[in-house]
Amino acid sequence: MEVYDYIDIIQKKVKTIARFVNYIAYIKVFGCQQNEADADKIRGFLSKIGFKFCSNPCEAEVIIFNTCAVRHTAENRIFGHIGELKKIKKINPKVLIFVCGCMVEQEHVRQKIEKNYSFVDMIFGPSMLDRFPLIFLNLIDAKNCDFNEKKNLGFRSLSGFSEKHVSNFKAFVPIISGCNNFCSYCIVPYVRGPEKSRNLHEILDKIKKLVSDGFKDITLLGQNVNSYGNDFGADSSVNFSVLLNKISDINGDFLLRFTTSHPKDFTDELIYSIAKNKHFCKHIHLPVQSGSNRILNLMNRKYTREKYLDIIHKIKCGIPDIFITTDIIVGFPGETENDFNDTMSLVEFVRFSSIFNFIYSPRRGTLAEKFQDDIPREEKVCRIKKLILLQNQISLEVLNKNVGKNVKVLVEKHEENLVLGRLSNNINVHICCSSGLDSLLGKFVYVKITGVNHGFLIGKML
Ligand code: SAH
Ligand code: SF4
Ligand code: F3S
Repeated sequence: MEVYDYIDIIQKKVKTIARFVNYIAYIKVFGCQQNEADADKIRGFLSKIGFKFCSNPCEAEVIIFNTCAVRHTAENRIFGHIGELKKIKKINPKVLIFVCGCMVEQEHVRQKIEKNYSFVDMIFGPSMLDRFPLIFLNLIDAKNCDFNEKKNLGFRSLSGFSEKHVSNFKAFVPIISGCNNFCSYCIVPYVRGPEKSRNLHEILDKIKKLVSDGFKDITLLGQNVNSYGNDFGADSSVNFSVLLNKISDINGDFLLRFTTSHPKDFTDELIYSIAKNKHFCKHIHLPVQSGSNRILNLMNRKYTREKYLDIIHKIKCGIPDIFITTDIIVGFPGETENDFNDTMSLVEFVRFSSIFNFIYSPRRGTLAEKFQDDIPREEKVCRIKKLILLQNQISLEVLNKNVGKNVKVLVEKHEENLVLGRLSNNINVHICCSSGLDSLLGKFVYVKITGVNHGFLIGKML
């Protein structure tokens, strides 16, 4: 049986049950791009069986929250949003509410939802994502669908459905799922499981299809993209550099990005592959987390400050004009004033174009949860403020270097008579333009950078 036969069956079931009137779904994504990519799969399935999507949960007959567990604040916020759905369920008891994603891969969270948020119809973690068609069918047809018929549905995987991307010119392409690194603070390996690389040809076919469909901005995704292929075994010659080289050979005018890479796997071979890749945009996100060797060791990051700086040096020499961004955790257990100053001096030295900074958040079941979280909250806040202040100065300096340049910009949206776009190095630019705005969307335009405003560039069309 082909996958489309199953879609027919599911479509018929959905119709006979007469549960839905307007076939409208609402999907809200929290967390990282991996969750966005998972939502593309869910969207792909739902649109195949006739659903359209809305931006207001009150209008929907199916509501899906794809959740994140990376920090306590993220979880709290999500619980707040789930709580608000109670009112919607009260007004329309027929609405189906799904909570999926990393957060519900944790047993204590599942129990909390079952106990305190009983209006949620179904919860399933990323390990069950591929079974969403069956989960969906089971839920809408729990009584009517007999067991044999369900068994005959056999095909349970979302992987046979093509994703529906939110944009028609930007797409995420997952190349590796899970993570084997077990950084001591991080919940991801527990909720996403071990690394599993996607087949090389499947990735290349997907990118070729996207390019032929007019996509201009493609991001390869994984928690650690540069360990791509490590799980293929010792005989395999496929690794991340090989994948990048093959993508470079694909014809077309598109930008290639990847996120996230880990410094421990950032080889010279990889820097060379990036430097000669004709589609690669000039931006690398390389999380450092801390500038102190003592803290890096406690974090189980498997590299030193010196090794990180050496990689940065090689990247800057090999890829001129590259923009580098990073992630930093402030207030890790035991972080002294000296450790924090090491982070500040690393930031000062590298001159990142921007950084994402986070206050350490203990996560249940991780190694660091057992470390004493001994730094007072006020101290953590004080440190993060210092870091932000330093980075703001550096970001301004980095942005200013673009003034006067003529650059190629991908137009991402427009508001009134303003075009919002992105340079290949990931910096946002605002361009004044009064006509033909719709036709510019998803196209490359040439722009002269005339100034800098809070965190973005200002340009005029050439
Ligand atoms: N796989 C990526 C990103 C993982 S999560 C990587 O290895 O870099 C994104 C970022 O969230 C991390 O880089 C880290 O800076 C931050 N983060 C993860 N766990 C955290 C925690 N428990 N507390 C605070 N920040 C955390
Ligand atoms: Fe988390 Fe570390 Fe894996 Fe990134 S590499 S997802 S920070 S465990
Ligand atoms: Fe969050 Fe899961 Fe991504 S925990 S950061 S959504 S992998």
